[in-house]
Amino acid sequence: MATMESLIGLVNRIQRACTVLGDYGGEGMSLWEALPSVAVVGGQSSGKSSVLESVVGRDFLPRGSGIVTRRPLVLQLHKIDGGSDYAEFLHAPRKKFTDFASVRKEIADETDRITGKSKQISNVPIHLSIYSPNGRADAIFVNLTLIDLPGLTKVAVEGQPESIVEDIENMVRSYVEKFVRVVLVFRTLAPPFQSQQQTFISSSAQVGSSKWWEKACCVVLKIYEQESTEPNSIILAISPANQDIATSDAIKLAREVDPSGERTFGVLTKLDLMDKGTNALDVLEGRSYRLQHPWVGIVNRSQADINKNVDMIAARRKEREYFETSPEYGHLSSKMGAEYLAKLLSKHLETVIRQRIPSIIALINKTIDELNAELDRIGRPIAVDSGAQLYTILELCRAFDRVFKEHLD
Ligand code: GDP
Ligand code: NA
Ligand code: MG
Repeated sequence: MATMESLIGLVNRIQRACTVLGDYGGEGMSLWEALPSVAVVGGQSSGKSSVLESVVGRDFLPRGSGIVTRRPLVLQLHKIDGGSDYAEFLHAPRKKFTDFASVRKEIADETDRITGKSKQISNVPIHLSIYSPNGRADAIFVNLTLIDLPGLTKVAVEGQPESIVEDIENMVRSYVEKFVRVVLVFRTLAPPFQSQQQTFISSSAQVGSSKWWEKACCVVLKIYEQESTEPNSIILAISPANQDIATSDAIKLAREVDPSGERTFGVLTKLDLMDKGTNALDVLEGRSYRLQHPWVGIVNRSQADINKNVDMIAARRKEREYFETSPEYGHLSSKMGAEYLAKLLSKHLETVIRQRIPSIIALINKTIDELNAELDRIGRPIAVDSGAQLYTILELCRAFDRVFKEHLD
């Protein structure tokens, strides 16, 4: 049986391939729903980028006071079998980054490339993949897609248009409200493969029992994301502990888009910055604002730590010590911190995927039926261009089919 990780990894690769593919046009066919991704939501400087970095276990994100994150960053984590860590950007596909300080610089430069060195924001995402070997002791590593977003603000500052407050909110909403499904557009191949079209039609009724991708001899022309009304993403709602939870932008938005709280993870940062004599137990123990998932308290690096280049390993150790020795939070220490949050998230993701498998199968079968009807109507296959990228997609599809079936066994 395929592990859940291999399934997630594959879907991640397909999601990534989606963005590589350009728009080749053609008819749309819904083939399956993408995995949910995890979006980080909260007010400016609440610690979103810090939390994300800590969950990943790598230092690579620009962070600091003020508006630092000005474009969405779509981060995919991949496990590899050996070797050492590296990162790749979609905008620089053949360049391997092995030094994570240069990853951070590239994110900053690539942000400026679109927005200028201003305080402007852009909703054009930066796509980054981080590859890390299995079994690294110092890394929390799960195959996940995480999205870092600009922080919600209340007023425009010097150099920003008045619309920025609304623009950021709309951008953030687009990542947490809409259900994104991956749509494959494909056409059957021209001769000499034409004859195989029949094979496809007669054997494609059951995805689970045939390598219909192959038999279809189809070429994927386009993959795009389609919105639906059903929400999909997991919300990492970040609130700083040194502000009243009732004023949290993250909770306000999460409550609106996920009233039942089933896809919201409440994260409380800056526990170390609370006023003396106060503590966050009411929030962490779910009395202030109840969510379906437990709240997780976090202590990220302070600005002074950032200035001193305190690394991730030291930061993790400091966070663990903070909770273990805390008079207030000691009894919760095994359920606090970024490492625990990462485990919680991957466990949740696994549950979501398992629940989703039947509907994915149903969707695939429905699509095949629709495709058959369409082919009956059109009659003839259409010639296509086929490039290396298209081939890659087809390979991914085949791999998906294989893992998918193994998983069902
Ligand atoms: P973002 O704007 O929400 O992405 O927040 P950043 O991660 O960029 O952090 C903003 C500032 O808050 C930085 O100076 C961080 O060092 C600081 N910060 C974030 N989390 C914590 C925390 O838990 N404790 C302390 N002391 N500072 C934090
Ligand atoms: Na910030
Ligand atoms: Mg940020």
